[in-house]
Amino acid sequence: MKNRTLGLIKPQLAGNKTIIDNVEAEIRRHGLEIIATKHFKPSKSQLERFYADHKGKFFYDRLILTMGSGDVRAYILEGENVITKWRELIGPTKLYLAKYSHPDTFRSKFGLSDTRNGFHGSGNENEAINEINVMFDKY
Ligand code: CMP
Repeated sequence: MKNRTLGLIKPQLAGNKTIIDNVEAEIRRHGLEIIATKHFKPSKSQLERFYADHKGKFFYDRLILTMGSGDVRAYILEGENVITKWRELIGPTKLYLAKYSHPDTFRSKFGLSDTRNGFHGSGNENEAINEINVMFDKY
């Protein structure tokens, strides 16, 4: 069954046309469809809703600050098994794992640190619905 997910390129990378072209080509090569794209600077309240599950963690303040530091590029992606497929394309959250165990992933190639890891993907269908609502204003 086809489903949807929220894909994000984070502020440190979202202005880089080479990275955007590379990412969008990989999305299509894996048979996934880009349903909508939005390039914008998320507000603090959007980010607080987006990352509500992480409130209280040691990296939370840093995360909200860096994610609000510039434009992000958000995608609604659709396809068979899209949540898992997109997360496989971006790779693990932690940079050392991405670099050493998943070298072909976006986070390995373009990530800067555990927080500034360059990309985001929803973890499950409920998260995808909520995150699409937050970033696309109930698209
Ligand atoms: P993301 O997929 O956007 O979801 C939560 C974000 O929190 C994650 O990517 C990272 O940017 C950040 N994050 C998660 N774990 C850590 C960690 N251990 N140290 C620093 N930042 C983290």
